[in-house]
Amino acid sequence: MDKFLINGPCKIKGNVSISGSKNASLPILAATLLFDKPVVIKNLPRVRDINTMLNLLKSLGSKIILSRDKKTAKIINKKNMKTFASYSLVKTMRGSILVLGPLISKYHKSKISLPGGCLIGARPVNYHLTALKKLGMKYELKDGYILAKSKGKLSGTTINFPKISVGATENSIIAACLAKGKTVLKNCAIEPEIKDLTNFLNKAGAKIKWTGRVCKIIGVNSLNETEYSVMADRIEAGTFCVAATLAKGNLQINNLNPKIIGTEIKLLKKVGAKIKTSENKILIKGPEKIKSIKSIKTKEFPGIPTDLQAQLMVLMCKAVGKSSITESIFENRFMHVAELQRLGAKINIKNNTATIEGNTKFIGAELMSSDLRASVALVLAAIVSNGKSYINRIYHLDRGYEKIENKLKKIGVKIKRLK
Ligand code: EPZ
Repeated sequence: MDKFLINGPCKIKGNVSISGSKNASLPILAATLLFDKPVVIKNLPRVRDINTMLNLLKSLGSKIILSRDKKTAKIINKKNMKTFASYSLVKTMRGSILVLGPLISKYHKSKISLPGGCLIGARPVNYHLTALKKLGMKYELKDGYILAKSKGKLSGTTINFPKISVGATENSIIAACLAKGKTVLKNCAIEPEIKDLTNFLNKAGAKIKWTGRVCKIIGVNSLNETEYSVMADRIEAGTFCVAATLAKGNLQINNLNPKIIGTEIKLLKKVGAKIKTSENKILIKGPEKIKSIKSIKTKEFPGIPTDLQAQLMVLMCKAVGKSSITESIFENRFMHVAELQRLGAKINIKNNTATIEGNTKFIGAELMSSDLRASVALVLAAIVSNGKSYINRIYHLDRGYEKIENKLKKIGVKIKRLK
């Protein structure tokens, strides 16, 4: 299994381009199952999860023509697509559950493996199933599979999500596009990736309107041939902004609309970073001294994203003084803490709040990745550690960060991928 060797500490300087968003690409690719006509998706990130989703679409019968740089996929669906998504594919990527909505809406049946939990939590899909059931899906759970069917088209209705859920919002919007009549979804997640999904669907002739956390969808008979370029990855951009703030960096981040990481930029300015933004560029300079933030709490968008929590924890380790981070989205998203403690961090956890001592002198060590975002946090810590750090199981990283070592090398990080 590949690992990274990082020789810290490193200065960060230069230019980095942000890849397409993994979490916008996944629902958009799943939604292509609604189409009879060819659809072209551009600016896909070349990460493992996208390959998994493309393989899942192929297993359902989609013909996929990839560009040479693998960032553009032309997807052509067959007349009668398969509707079975196997455990072997779904277990490697929970986002596979997003094919349930389009399959039931278009083909009125689907057998899809229940996505297992993962290290950050049980990750149930009850809100997905309840919402699709209200749209007319009948289902039973058998041998770890969801056996779903509907009597013809789904029927529009009003659904009020009991809790804000990105995936359940996405599955319901996609399913409602071909349902009969009007669907009103309330208490929706409003992450930028979901808006990217609805921009894509509207471009193909769907009728989707937003008012705050309410999404209204008028069902249509079919969607038109279209091509769409996926938005840039705000979590990757946030990760590089944290890196520059952490390592007294001087970084220009390109091709991302800074507005979608406004909350993160505000927080990093409070920490002491000097940040200038223009239309699709961010100039960030890290401070000599990192100010601690008394309390950081992850929240649904537009709050601080849970996918940036581990990275911000590394930053607070290097801050002058005490801070705390509360994880309010997932029940077990502090796996990076034990690894940071091995690098010398002083962190205490009580329930879902971590208290961080600050003024940490990280010393390089052998580290173990656990989930996608915890892994990148270890990379950040290694960058500002004294000495060599080895980061194992970086396949977690490859799921969501496109060739991160190449991007880091280009901005001054002494990093090597060891086979
Ligand atoms: C999406 O996961 C993202 N994944 C996650 O990113 C992200 O952390 C999360 O949203 C929150 O922003 C993709 O977009 C592919 P949720 P999702 O449904 O949709 C509970 C990454 O690193 N819940 O908003 O699974 C759930 O357990 C990944 O890129 C239910 O209880 O997140 C969690 O506690 C990690 N029942 C909370 O709601 C349900 O049916 C929010 O989950 C659904 C969710």
